[in-house]
Amino acid sequence: MHNSIPVIAIDGPSASGKGTVAELVAAQLGFHYLDSGALYRIVALAAKQQNIDWDDALAIAKCAKTLDIQFKDGQVMLNGNDISDAIRTEEMGKGASRVAVHAPLRAALLDLQHSFCKAPGLVADGRDMGTVIFPNAPLKVFLTAATEVRAQRRYQQLLNKKQSGSNSQISYADILLDLQERDARDKGRASAPLIMAKDAILLETDHLSIAQAVDHVLQNYQSFTNLSA
Ligand code: CDP
Repeated sequence: MHNSIPVIAIDGPSASGKGTVAELVAAQLGFHYLDSGALYRIVALAAKQQNIDWDDALAIAKCAKTLDIQFKDGQVMLNGNDISDAIRTEEMGKGASRVAVHAPLRAALLDLQHSFCKAPGLVADGRDMGTVIFPNAPLKVFLTAATEVRAQRRYQQLLNKKQSGSNSQISYADILLDLQERDARDKGRASAPLIMAKDAILLETDHLSIAQAVDHVLQNYQSFTNLSA
């Protein structure tokens, strides 16, 4: 890893808005973008395709090492196939959080995540970007919002998807429950749990628009660059 390359680490729970914020910050700064959650979703999908149990830590880590993962123009490619939509289902969100508890898998994904750190800089989003993967990141942001606000956002996202063709049944109550389960699993696991880094800035997005959250991160980054100039 190159310590001279600036990294903005954005961590937080599901549906806190971190993915959208991270992508927009990266675009504004012309930085690379790492969606680390996509990696766990890809592993969950590949394991399902290969009939590997999500709870089998060693088989999951072994499977991850064989995967050819590419991010190209907003598409996610696995072994040459476009799996962008297939990994975005609620099932793969849940699968990602199940496989993500395994320390051998997290170790297997380390080098791949570090390889995203290239000039002129990186915006990385996930659960452990600031605590484990890029502990020297000069700017760490912990993005969060109340569980009910996040569940409402996820519900709205899924309703929008439904309008554009998806026909799965959606209930707010199920989404809230799923989010609570996922938060508990992400926070409670022994390996790289979801926790705010000591030197992170807390950004509560309950009453913030995406644009306001992006501005906040950019202003903090500006302060950092002014300080280090
Ligand atoms: O989009 P959402 O926030 O719901 O999920 P995601 O960022 O795509 O991540 C899916 C799951 O992968 C999370 O619930 C975590 O369990 C896991 N994950 C992780 O353990 N570490 C990361 N750096 C990123 C995601």
